[in-house]
Amino acid sequence: MSNAGEESLSGAADVAAEAIHVENLHKKFGQLHVLKGVSMSARDGEVVAIIGGSGSGKSTLLRCINCLENPTSGLIRVNGEEIRLKPDGHGGSVPADRRQIERIRSRLGMVFQSFNLWSHMTLLENVIEVPVHVLGIKRDEAVANAEKLLERVGLAEKRDVYPAFLSGGQQQRGAIARALAVQPRVMLFDEPTSALDPELVGEVLKVIADLAREGRTMVLVTHEMKFARQVASHVIYLYNGLVEEEGPPEQIFGDPKSEKLKQFIRNIH
Ligand SMILES: Nc1ncnc2c1ncn2[C@@H]1O[C@H](COP(=O)(O)OP(=O)(O)OP(=O)(O)O)[C@@H](O)[C@H]1O
Ligand SMILES: [Mg+2]
Repeated sequence: MSNAGEESLSGAADVAAEAIHVENLHKKFGQLHVLKGVSMSARDGEVVAIIGGSGSGKSTLLRCINCLENPTSGLIRVNGEEIRLKPDGHGGSVPADRRQIERIRSRLGMVFQSFNLWSHMTLLENVIEVPVHVLGIKRDEAVANAEKLLERVGLAEKRDVYPAFLSGGQQQRGAIARALAVQPRVMLFDEPTSALDPELVGEVLKVIADLAREGRTMVLVTHEMKFARQVASHVIYLYNGLVEEEGPPEQIFGDPKSEKLKQFIRNIH
């Protein structure tokens, strides 16, 4: 084992400690240039909050990391593995290896804004689906693990219930349990509470805050600024497809430098 000093000097160790690494990422939708050279990373144990106005590119960034969108150009490494892309013949790119994409995606825990549990499956079936059918984990083992995860998000007694019979907050906690079931090195959240009734927001934020306290690596797009300030170790402010300012939460919220960020923060309060 190298000591901490050596590690910070060694590029190789830094790459190994990065769950997510994005470099000079561009994304165009036709003429619309949405991401204009975004670089960011999430090291193991970090909670990176991404904030910014509507349309600034936050979801597009997460969707590129999760291989749901093909970047126009740039480099993305997930768990140290570079997503291999090839030109699509129209100035953009497509995955060079579909199997690589499936492998990477099956180990990323992603929770979206809208409740995305599969409606034709019970909560327990939702949580064991990918472990059993994609990752090849034995059913008994997957069920035992799912029961623990459901307990952890406060849904043990709902295991055999279909999503339609759960509240929005319960569905979202179920989606978090499902995401955890693939034992992701990093969890991606895209505004997990923005579609919830206000009285249900707290229960979902509490589950996410518990994960942060456990040292889980997370990238979290959120409009909940107070929450971002509490749980994030690093905050990235996106403006018009670029990182306008980034830093520790105390700096971003307490002592912002950029005029645009100052205005953004003023408008929230
Ligand atoms: N599939 C798509 N096709 C065309 N344009 C898109 C597509 N997805 C996103 N866009 C556009 O890209 C821009 C950025 O969208 P994105 O969803 O990343 O913003 P956001 O920062 O997540 O906003 P919000 O806070 O409202 O969720 C917007 O102008 C949006 O209309
Ligand atoms: Mg969005």
